[in-house]
This record gives sequence, C-alpha cells and structure tokens, in this order.
Amino acid sequence: MIKKDSIIKLLNKLPSQLHDIIFLSRELAKKEKVGVYLVGGFIRDLLLGKENFDLDMVIEKNGIGFATKLSKILNAHLVKHRAFGTATVTKKDGLKIDIATCRKEFYPNPTELPIVRQGSIEDDLFRRDFTINAMACHIDFEKFGQFVDIFGGLRDLKDSRIRFLHEGSFVDDPTRIIRAVRFEQRLDFCIDTKTLSFIKQAKKMKLLEKVQKHRIRDELILVLKERKPYSMLKRLKQIYSLSFINKNINLSKNLKRVFCDIDKACMWFVSNFPQRRILDIWLMYIAAFLYDLSPRVLFRLLNKYAFFRGDKKRIISFKKEFRKIDKNLSMERLPVIKLHNILYPLSYEVIILALVISESQQTKKRVREFFLKYHHKKLIINGKDLLSLGIKAGPEFREIFQKVFRAKINGKIHTKEEELEFVKQIISR
Ligand code: CTP
Repeated sequence: MIKKDSIIKLLNKLPSQLHDIIFLSRELAKKEKVGVYLVGGFIRDLLLGKENFDLDMVIEKNGIGFATKLSKILNAHLVKHRAFGTATVTKKDGLKIDIATCRKEFYPNPTELPIVRQGSIEDDLFRRDFTINAMACHIDFEKFGQFVDIFGGLRDLKDSRIRFLHEGSFVDDPTRIIRAVRFEQRLDFCIDTKTLSFIKQAKKMKLLEKVQKHRIRDELILVLKERKPYSMLKRLKQIYSLSFINKNINLSKNLKRVFCDIDKACMWFVSNFPQRRILDIWLMYIAAFLYDLSPRVLFRLLNKYAFFRGDKKRIISFKKEFRKIDKNLSMERLPVIKLHNILYPLSYEVIILALVISESQQTKKRVREFFLKYHHKKLIINGKDLLSLGIKAGPEFREIFQKVFRAKINGKIHTKEEELEFVKQIISR
C-alpha cells in the first residue's frame, strides 16, 4: 500500500493545470461534505509516472451536482449524462474532467450495456476492467491522498501484469479483451495467465462477435491511435483471432512495414507542413489494414461498423482510387497541371497512403513534389476581377481561371498583377 504522503508528493508534482483542479475539488468536497476520489487510468498513470491529462473522478453521491458546482468554479463547460449519473467538465484550455457518482453495475444480458445504480467506492472499483485501472485515491479534505486498492492493482502494476477483477469480466464486457491487449502492449506488461485463459474461453464462446459493432469500431480506433498498433493487432490475432472483425481479414506479412512507412511519411509531412491540419494516422492504418478486402466487402464492413461518413469516404476513396493514381503518377511524362488535378481533390491521408503503398519511385517522387511545390498554389484573382475587366459572368470564367492556373502552376506567373495581365492577354486573343 502506498502511504498518503507519497501520493500527495506525486499530486504536488503534477502540472499546475491538473494540480489546481485537484485542490479546488478538495475544497469543494469539504464544503459539500462528500467523498471524492481520483480513479482509473489517471491513478494508474500517476503511479507509473506517465503523463495523463484525463482526470477521472468519482463522487460518493450526486456526481452531477458536484460537476455542476466544479464547472462554475472553473468557469468551464459542462455536459451532463443524466442516464448514467455522469458529467464531463471541459475547461477553456481543453482539459477534460470526467465526473461520475460511485456506481454499481448489473449486466442483465451478457455483452449488453449494464444497468447502473448508485453504489460505494468498492462497488465502483469492482465494476472496472483490470486491477491496474481499479485503484483510487481520496481527494476529499480529511482523507486527501489516501490510497484505495482493493484488488491488488499496485502489486500488478509493479509486476507488469494485466489481470481482470473477476471471472465474469469478459462476459460482461468482451471489449475488455481488446483493452487487455492495448494496455499490455502499451505498457509492455503481460496478460496474467488466468485472465488469458478466460480470453481463450471467450474466443470459444465467440464473445467479441456478439458485441455491438460500433463498440468494436471504437475499440479498434483506440488501438490504431496507440504508438504500437501493429503489435496490438498481432497480439489480438494470437490470443483471439481477428476474424471477429470480418472472416476475410488477415494480417498481411508486409503490414508491419507499411505501418512503419506510414509513420515515417507522416513525420515527413508534419516536419514540412507544421501548420496543416492534424493527420488521422489511425485512418491510414485502417485503410492499409483493410486494403486486401474486395471493394464490396470493404464497403459492407464500413457500413456495418457505422464508420463516420468522412472516415468511410476516405477509406473507400483510397481503395477505389489507388491503382489509378499510381498508374497515372508513375507515367514517364506527366504535366504538372495533371499531377495537380489528380491529387488535389484527395484528402491528405489518401495521398500519403498512396506515397507509402506505391512501389513506383516515380509516384513517390511526384507525391512529394506535389506537396512541396504545388499543393499550396492558388489563384489570387477572383470573379470580381474578371468582371472589372469587362468579362461577362458565365462558362468563360471557368475556362479563363483554368488557363491562368495552368500558367501559375507552371511557374510562368506569380503575382496578382501578373495574373491580371495574363487574363488580359487571353481575352485579347
Ligand atoms: N473501464 C472499464 N471497462 C471498459 C472501459 C473502461 O472498466 N470497457 C474503466 C476503467 O477503470 C478505466 C476507466 O473506466 O480506467 C476509464 O476508461 P477509459 O478512459 O477508456 O480508460 P483509461 O484507463 O483512462 O485508458 P486510456 O489511458 O487509454 O485513456
């Protein structure tokens, strides 16, 4: 067991944004005369010395009431989830605090979501996935810093072990199988022998196959957002198999290299274009992972798992367009305007993935060239400029813009004046 003082020392070392919230919560707990705890992944990472900005709090009673008051003190945004007795407080700096009432869960039907009732901190910890995620620490006034570890989470943390809390854990929630792999690979831990044997049983019972598809989707995305997604998929295949996602799915031999090349390509992109929007690397991984499926199976799978429209569009666009893009971009002669027309309508993710997957050096060179030299090029003149030159609005506009753009992308003109001059030349002809 860890002493109060040691925990307080760890809390005092936290970045000020977290520290302030915890100490303000302590004051509020005193005023409200209520037990307040930090729990879950936050405590796990606090003990591991890993940075974690997702505060998870449970309150002995009326979590929503506590969250409402805390959000006022912090001048933060509050979202209540009345059905679950939980609330999320989001500060202006983006820091998020999940607050819940201590709860007890009942699983009326295996694999379905539980029925929730108010409970004690012990009940609340017992409903959790693994011992390392089932530790808590008081942050209410008198007991501030007191550690709660009923299931031996600290010992498992020291022994690098992922262990479930009870034998019904995977029946209650089979997505914990994916979570077990995720924590194991992320932390370089090992799934404990008994827990592993229950995962094998779960496999025989096809438990993951029975879970609602959108929940599987969310877990897979979480896997793909981790730093070692390939090892996670490989381990999941080893202890459960990946056929629960789709019977045609496999981990192709070169996927490890592809994932690694995606990382490198993204690093290249980010270092060259730090201002551009954040890339969805997970989406590139999944598009590569599912690439061997036929278009029809892929389309059905993405629908079945209810992927969001924008995500689905990009994954399918890669599947449908890659061969064509690769063929065109690997041609010996390709005018710059054509290169632009091919790549410009595609998302960054699809283009970068094409760069990674293509075996043609020509394609790779052209994709890099596109990003470095041409992607940012835009016309400065607009419709008003054409009107002011006496051109009537109509189909001619498009034709003129295309011509000016071609000249611009070929490096013949640069400034607004040069663009206007070029338009004048076109109309005089
Ligand atoms: N939890 C659980 N079973 C699940 C999901 C979550 O028991 N299927 C519990 C765990 O105690 C977990 C907490 O809810 O620690 C918060 O969930 P989540 O934010 O998903 O987990 P973290 O442990 O914070 O994971 P991460 O570090 O990936 O954010």
